[in-house]
Parts: sequence; C-alpha cells; structure tokens
Amino acid sequence: MFKSSIIKLGLRTPLPNFQSPTDDKLVVKMNIEGEEMRKPIRLIAAACRDMGIGKNGQLPWSLPKEFLFFMDTITAVSAPGKKNLVVWGRISLSSCPETVFPLANCINLVLSRKLTAVPPRAHYLCKDFGSVIRLASEPPLCHTVETIWVLGGTEVYKESLAHPWCDLIYLTDIMAEFDCDVFFPKFDRNVFRKQKGFPGVPDEIQEENGIKFQFQVFKKEA
Ligand SMILES: NC(=O)c1ccc[n+]([C@@H]2O[C@H](COP(=O)([O-])OP(=O)(O)OC[C@H]3O[C@@H](n4cnc5c(N)ncnc54)[C@H](OP(=O)(O)O)[C@@H]3O)[C@@H](O)[C@H]2O)c1
Repeated sequence: MFKSSIIKLGLRTPLPNFQSPTDDKLVVKMNIEGEEMRKPIRLIAAACRDMGIGKNGQLPWSLPKEFLFFMDTITAVSAPGKKNLVVWGRISLSSCPETVFPLANCINLVLSRKLTAVPPRAHYLCKDFGSVIRLASEPPLCHTVETIWVLGGTEVYKESLAHPWCDLIYLTDIMAEFDCDVFFPKFDRNVFRKQKGFPGVPDEIQEENGIKFQFQVFKKEA
C-alpha cells in the first residue's frame, strides 16, 4: 500500500514520519542541533514571449546551447560529494531526452500523486512539495544536498516561487513567439529583481538556429 509521501528507489518509507511541523519550527530545531538545514530553492526555465515553456509535453524549440547552460547550471556543486536535488514534475521528467541521464552530481526526484513507484531515471518520488523540502533538509540527505533545483512544470514552479527558501530564478528569455500550452507562472518582479553581471551567467544576447535568447537571473530581495 502507498503509505509515505516519499518513496526512494527500491525502498518505501525511508524517512521518519515527522508530524508536519511548520518548516520554520523544524529549521530552528535542527539548527540548534547543529544540522545544516535550509537549502536554497532555485527555479530554472526558458520561456518565450508570452511566457510559454512547453507544447504537447515537449520543449517548443531546439536550442542546444541554451540546454547546455541548463545542464551546466543544475549539475554545478561547490565540492566533491555534494549533490543537487533536482525536482521534476512527472511530465517534464518523462519528456526529457534519455541521453541527458545520468545527470552528474544530481539526485533526481519526481513529483506525482498518481505514481506508486519510482519511475526510471528518478531516485525519489514525492507526492507533494512539502515532502521534497523535508527530504532535502532532514538527515540523511541534508548532509549531501546543496541546492534544490526546480525544473518545472507550472505547478511546481508556482509552489517553489511561494516558498520562503526560494532565492533565485534562472529564466532564459527566448526572444520569439512559439505556440505553447504550458506557461511559466507570473511572479512579482519587484520581489525578484533582474540581476546584471550575475556570476557565471552571460549577459549578452545569444543566437542559435536564428532564435535570439538571453540568460537572466532574478534574485529575491529581502
Ligand atoms: N521551457 C522550460 O524551461 C521547461 C521546463 C520544464 C518543463 N517544460 C515543458 O513543460 C511541459 C511539462 O510541464 P507541465 O506543467 O505540463 O507538467 P509537469 O509539471 O512536468 O508534470 C505535471 C504532473 O507532475 C505532477 N506534479 C506536479 N506538481 C506536483 C505537486 N506539487 N505535487 C504532486 N505532483 C505534482 C503531477 O503528476 P500526476 O499527474 O502523476 O499526479 C502532475 O500531473 C512540457 O511541455 C515540458 O517540455 C519546459
């Protein structure tokens, strides 16, 4: 029977069942005990003129350079042995090309309410975003996880934008129109401010296959 909201590849209920404390209380408790708890939550996406991100379960464009930037960003860690928790909605994971896996330095987590077993290419399955946060911020994974990268789609982007630990949005501006059926959620650009000269992120407009695009980072101002 499906009892836990977290399923590890080949294992059920790997974590103790915390009695749903608010995240803040949990952070305070774990910090007192010396645990490294709070993890930055970062979104990464590419969106076209009307903020479209997908069509028929796929990316609407083919921009290998942009995809390489995405890959480099989510796989970067500060020290050997550290890993990023990369969070996929079920459709995004299943539509990602096979050739992308395994992702270096990444633990793949898929979100789904329907699935009852960890699908191929994922290490963990969670039924809700709260379980993702607990998994990353409590032992044992809190010792390994550096950043929670949210890879979409719309629902998980929305939830992560609203989370207090969310500090950055990497949002490539695809400077063209594409027919899309999935969209990046609206966010407050007075709260998340566009950065200039953000480390590791080229400011110049790029062009590939006749399509112009620009990497952008939005940072949450305190
Ligand atoms: N341009 C970009 O940067 C970018 C990035 C990501 C995705 N995309 C595109 O966007 C499209 C996919 O996005 P999408 O929004 O349609 O689907 P999605 O988020 O990838 O998958 C939706 C499914 O994920 C599960 N899910 C999502 N949030 C959940 C939550 N908080 N709790 C539990 N389960 C959750 C549910 O699965 P169940 O139905 O199994 O319960 C839901 O039906 C594709 O076209 C993809 O190519 C583009």
